[in-house]
Amino acid sequence: MKKLMILCLAVLTAGLSAQNVKLIAPQTSGGATLREALTKRCTNRNYTGKELSAQQLSDLFYSACGMNRKDAKKLTIPTARNAQDLVLYAATKQALYRYDAASHSLVFLKKGDFRQQFGMQKGMFAKAAVVLIYTSDLKKLNFGNSDAEKKVYAGVHAGFAMQNVGLYCAAEGLGNVIIGSYDRKKTPELLGLTKGQPVLMVQLVGVLK
Ligand SMILES: Cc1cc2nc3c(=O)[nH]c(=O)nc-3n(C[C@H](O)[C@H](O)[C@H](O)COP(=O)(O)O)c2cc1C
Repeated sequence: MKKLMILCLAVLTAGLSAQNVKLIAPQTSGGATLREALTKRCTNRNYTGKELSAQQLSDLFYSACGMNRKDAKKLTIPTARNAQDLVLYAATKQALYRYDAASHSLVFLKKGDFRQQFGMQKGMFAKAAVVLIYTSDLKKLNFGNSDAEKKVYAGVHAGFAMQNVGLYCAAEGLGNVIIGSYDRKKTPELLGLTKGQPVLMVQLVGVLK
């Protein structure tokens, strides 16, 4: 009986991971002050491998590029001419997702644990709760003379999101590290990206040891 229950639970958990994840409402007040978060912000690389709580997952994506003014459809990050070109992906132990700010949900892409495949520092990637992959849909940047110029704007936008995440992690007592040494070949392949959607940077978020 006990074995049957464990089997049912495992099947149920596996099934749930192969679906879109509607994030719960983000916390929009309370917590550490901005000054405290600024003072604590730092890179950490030692994670336990534990997963984030539902609230932490919600607050993380809200911080990165969530919608903070629903009426105007605007985000927690500024983007030039409100281009909103940033496309954020997330790899967890369960699956690969794309974040959708309008519905505050993780859109399911692929089942499986792909975390280590994005990076070179494999041990660290395996222990991160979430691997965030920042990309840009360059066609939304309909200004600038060249792709090189567009990529500068795109990088600036991703930088805002990464700093928001870094400050959120500092305020919440979570660890994070920005990763420039991500796998240049596998990362776009795993996400099925075309030339018009370059990978800008990767960031790990983890529960600290
Ligand atoms: C753009 C960028 C790329 C980085 N790439 C890596 C990386 O590939 N691997 C890593 O372990 N740390 C990486 N880091 C983290 C830096 O080493 C770290 O931010 C730096 O040592 C300063 O430490 P602090 O963030 O605690 O102030 C990167 C940081 C930035 C901003």
